[in-house]
Amino acid sequence: MSLEGVITRLAARLGHRLDDEVTARYRRGLEAVAQKQGLGLSTFVGLLDAGLADAWDAAVDAGAVHETYFFRDPGQLAVLAAAARAALHDGRPYARALSVGCSTGEEAYSLGVLLGAIWPAATVQGFDVSPRALDVARLGAYGARAAREVDLRLVSPDVFVEESGARVGPRLKAAVRFAPLNLADFQGLAQLGPKSADVVVCRNVLMYLKPGPMDAARQALVEVVRPGGCLVVGPFDFDRVPDGFRACDLGAFKEPAVTPLERALRTHAARVGGSVLLRELKPTPFAAATTVALAVPVTAPHSAATAKTLAHAQTLADSGQHQAALQALDALGDEAAVQLLKGKVLLDMGELGRAELCLRRVLLQDPNSPDAAFHLLLVMSQRGEKDFVQRLARQLSALLREEEEDHELAHGLTTAMVRQTLARLGLLG
Ligand SMILES: C[S@@+](CC[C@H](N)C(=O)[O-])C[C@H]1O[C@@H](n2cnc3c(N)ncnc32)[C@H](O)[C@@H]1O
Repeated sequence: MSLEGVITRLAARLGHRLDDEVTARYRRGLEAVAQKQGLGLSTFVGLLDAGLADAWDAAVDAGAVHETYFFRDPGQLAVLAAAARAALHDGRPYARALSVGCSTGEEAYSLGVLLGAIWPAATVQGFDVSPRALDVARLGAYGARAAREVDLRLVSPDVFVEESGARVGPRLKAAVRFAPLNLADFQGLAQLGPKSADVVVCRNVLMYLKPGPMDAARQALVEVVRPGGCLVVGPFDFDRVPDGFRACDLGAFKEPAVTPLERALRTHAARVGGSVLLRELKPTPFAAATTVALAVPVTAPHSAATAKTLAHAQTLADSGQHQAALQALDALGDEAAVQLLKGKVLLDMGELGRAELCLRRVLLQDPNSPDAAFHLLLVMSQRGEKDFVQRLARQLSALLREEEEDHELAHGLTTAMVRQTLARLGLLG
């Protein structure tokens, strides 16, 4: 295959449009990737021609522009924070956000900080087509240029600002996960699930796609957003407001900014503006939405065999055999039901750090799990994380407010138990 052939195939894989300028960028990119691998360009092209998967993974970076930084377009993020506060006020916390085309992770971590300050159990999933960018994202260590827009010292105790740049701490990392996704792969997009996220951010990515994949990706992203949720796109990514959405700026929301970060972002918004696309909430009234969220059972075990082992592990834990229970659970996979029980067992054992990780993993898969949110509150309360606990408690009691009667939230967990515990901790709002 010639160099031109490689460029054409690479662009087709990524769904990118090719013109002279893009072709020249791909060519320079392929030279740079080959050089990084210690190879000449023709040898690298030979490996691609032979279909070597590693070579194709590396070649993705020849076609991708990875420019990004923390709190990019802060005016738009100010509007997103205001929308998240308004949704929380209505009993619909923004619990799950996606950063699609997240590059090296700064955007996903920014969302984790911003949304986590409003709903502490919020989780973020970052997706990108570049395996190398995702490796950097998972590492969470950045140079000084990663934070050029907002003073990161304002941001969060989970982002450590150092002379050379910034480092993401373990708690934020646990709430922000990364996975590969190619926007040009329709099956990959379909896996995101309809109405599965409160916030979908896809900025400065779609503009690289050619019309067919661009339209398909736009449609798929629109479908992922829950009613009442936000689609956050760059100025060149959508050419019109999608049906069922409306463009909102800060004026659309009444809630005041609460954290210093939100206030700083609003200063930017006042200067440069910013808007998000809000998916209309119809016809489900808020109260009904809350009840539905409370009624969602914790993710069920995926198979009868898993359910049996879970029941066995629960019996072991109930009789105080915690290590044996953990061993039984270790033999199972990563699914939410397993992580949830593991988190509870670890909490009983006083292994708070590990318990927190397990419970956050559950919330990543099942953001509506009151069981996981409640146990995370207990963990964080024992860790003395007062602010976090108070925020989580406020939001749990907001969810409970609609429930007059005692109501089973999950197996063995009732609204009365949650209320009593919040009251005992002096947290009932
Ligand atoms: C300019 S960066 C945008 C990063 C971030 N969203 C922002 O606005 O700061 C574009 C990212 O899109 C990714 N990308 C390009 N084509 C893609 C595709 N087909 N599927 C998924 N990601 C893609 C690139 O790897 C790159 O990391």
